[in-house]
Amino acid sequence: MSIEITSLLSSFKKELANCNSNNDLMKIKSNYLGKKGLLTELFSQMKNLELDEKKTKGALLNQTKISIESLLNAKSKELDSFNSTDNEIDISLPARGYTIGSHHPITITINEITNILNKYGFSISDGPEIEDDYYNFEALNIPKNHPARDMHDTFYINNEKLLRTHTSSVQIRSMLEQSPPLRIMTPGKVYRCDSDPTHSPMFHQIEGLSVEKNINFCHLKGFLTEFIKEFFDDKKIEIRFRPSYFPFTEPSAEIDIQFKNKWLEVLGCGMVHPNVLRNVKIDHKIFSGFAFGLGIERFAMLKYGISDLREFFENDLSFLSQFESIR
Ligand code: DAH
Repeated sequence: MSIEITSLLSSFKKELANCNSNNDLMKIKSNYLGKKGLLTELFSQMKNLELDEKKTKGALLNQTKISIESLLNAKSKELDSFNSTDNEIDISLPARGYTIGSHHPITITINEITNILNKYGFSISDGPEIEDDYYNFEALNIPKNHPARDMHDTFYINNEKLLRTHTSSVQIRSMLEQSPPLRIMTPGKVYRCDSDPTHSPMFHQIEGLSVEKNINFCHLKGFLTEFIKEFFDDKKIEIRFRPSYFPFTEPSAEIDIQFKNKWLEVLGCGMVHPNVLRNVKIDHKIFSGFAFGLGIERFAMLKYGISDLREFFENDLSFLSQFESIR
C-alpha cells in the first residue's frame, strides 16, 4: 500500500504542476480528497488491514493528506496572486464610473424655503408626527366638535393620539418651550385621509411663526410678499391676499399667486389668535404674532413645472435625475 501512496503523491504533484486555473485546481482537489477521491479510497481500504498495519498505514495516509492539503493551499494562493495582477483585472478598460444621486425635489424645495426664512431670522423647530389631539386641534382654538375639524380628514390613532394634520401643532409646542420674542419654522410631514391625483395621504408643509412686541398685519404682508418673490425668483410676480378663515388666526388670509393667467392659492396665514396665545400663557396684550403655513409639494410643482403630485412618491429615476444639477 505504501507504494500506492508514493505513486499517488507523485501523480498528484504532476497534475498540480500542470494546473493553471482555479477550476482545474478544484477538480484535482476533488479527484484526490473528494468523497470518491483516490486518497479517500485508500482510507476506506484501511478497515481490511490488521491492527499493526492499520497504525503505520494510517499514519502514512494522514501525513499524505496533510501534504496534499498544504500543496493545494499553496497552489491556490499562487493562482490568486497571478490572476489578480494579470488575468482578472484589465486596468486598461474604462472604469464603470459612479453617478452621484440627486436630492429629491421635496428636499430641494424645503432647503430653498428654509434658506430664505433663515435669512429673516427663523430657526428650525420640530415636533412629533404622532401628535396629541391637544396640540393639533384643541390648543389651536379648534375644540372637539368644531366644524373646522371636518376640513382635516384626520387619521386618528385613538381618542387622544392622531397623525398630525398640519405643522401648526408645532406652534404650540414651540411657544410652550420658548418665550417670545421667537421666530420658528417647521418643515415636516403631515397626514390626511385623502388620496386622488391632487391629494396624497402624506404630504409636506412648512409652518412659520413670529411672536414679538408690536407685530402687526403689515409685517406679515410685507414679509410674505418678499418671501414669495424670492422663492419664485420673480420680482414682478402677481400676489394677492384674500380674506379667509382659520380658527388659530384672526384676521386670517390666503395668498394667491398668478400662474398661467389663473389665481392659485399657495398659503394660509394670519395674526395669531389671542386664544392661542392664552393657551400657551403668552400675554396677548404685550405680544402679538403672525403665522403662516404652506404646502411644499404645491410650491415645488409651481416652481419646477411638475404637473402630477404622484411623481413625488413614485421614485422614478428618470424623473428624479432631472434634479441632479440642483443642490
Ligand atoms: N394649518 C393650515 C392648514 O394646514 C395652514 C395655515 C393657515 C397655517 C394659517 C398657519 C396659518 O400658520 O396662520 O391648512
